[in-house]
Amino acid sequence: MYLTKEEERFYDGEYGWANQICMKILVRLGELFNATKLIPIESAHVSGVSYKTLGDAPAEFLQALAKAEGKAKVKATLNPQSFDPDYLSRKMPKHVREKQLNILKQFEKMGFTSSLTCTPYYLKKPKRGSHLAWAESSAVVYANSVLGAWTNREGGPSALAAAIIGKTPDYGMHRVENRQPNILVDVRTPLQNEAEFGALGIYLGKILEDKIPIIQGLNDVSEEKLKQLGAALATTGMVNMFYHDVRPEERRIEKIIVETENLKRTVESLSTTANMKPDLVFIGCPHCSLNEIRQVAKLIDGKKVEAGTEFWVCTSRCVKERALGNVEKIENSGGHVLTDMCTIVSWTETLGIKTIMTNSAKTAYYAPTLNKADTIFAPLEHCLKSALQG
Ligand code: F3S
Repeated sequence: MYLTKEEERFYDGEYGWANQICMKILVRLGELFNATKLIPIESAHVSGVSYKTLGDAPAEFLQALAKAEGKAKVKATLNPQSFDPDYLSRKMPKHVREKQLNILKQFEKMGFTSSLTCTPYYLKKPKRGSHLAWAESSAVVYANSVLGAWTNREGGPSALAAAIIGKTPDYGMHRVENRQPNILVDVRTPLQNEAEFGALGIYLGKILEDKIPIIQGLNDVSEEKLKQLGAALATTGMVNMFYHDVRPEERRIEKIIVETENLKRTVESLSTTANMKPDLVFIGCPHCSLNEIRQVAKLIDGKKVEAGTEFWVCTSRCVKERALGNVEKIENSGGHVLTDMCTIVSWTETLGIKTIMTNSAKTAYYAPTLNKADTIFAPLEHCLKSALQG
């Protein structure tokens, strides 16, 4: 892989250990995937911020990097941590709180923005055609497919290294030839709601692996529904990008058909219990947009959350700040608008949560394993009906 004279100095350690190790990570990665050079990035987004998913050894690596004066050279944002600063923070054991706060401190020392969200694009939309190094898979699919930015699906360490160097190896989704659609998906069933967009993603992710589909036949599309579709595609497969509003140029492109029965079975598979009394109703995977908060507030306004049921709406700090009137409506009803965290990367078992109801296919897919909880998968309106009294 070609390195400029300046990049060679980084590689040889002339700018210190932190820069050297990060450069070595990027060069190794570039060599593995036949990159020819490094390219500048507009931003990096790092996952693996929650102590629950990170653990102790990577936290020590972070500490070493910060101590060696690793500094982000581009705008660098962070995925959710394991609790919000207020409601759940008080319920966490002291040692967990301390470990988590120490992780955040190391990132802050290195100049990362404590965005703590999986929807960094609501803070600042990347420019169309800009190169990014993002690690959150749902955000990667959204960036490539909806925002028109260019990013590989980074791992936590490679996104961290890219942030500190300000560059990423030029391979995969950074190259125009690798962004061409290579399969056509014909959806022959109308999608009724955001949950069904997610279920479609779960179904297709398993079939498509790392292909780039053109998905035809989507009805009543919104950015939020595409967010659900993309998050779910990346949950069960390695899809990094999809198209939904173009016609295939290549006539003999491979084609698959999605029928009503495929979708119905997938929706059913995402609920693991027939018990319709969840301990937690969770909205906000991926983190809610302003529109989604408005929608929840409209449905909940003037009603009360059932006693003994937790109702969480997860979003980023920046969206919460912009939605204050609607946040008040949700909180007056007994719900919690939580920032910085999500159910999957939080310790819900220790809070006694055994059944989680959600409109997110990604959460419904992961919660049985990562939260040791039963799941009820349903659209927003049904989730709210379960959360509310009467
Ligand atoms: Fe975001 Fe957590 Fe879902 S990080 S995409 S809300 S699993």
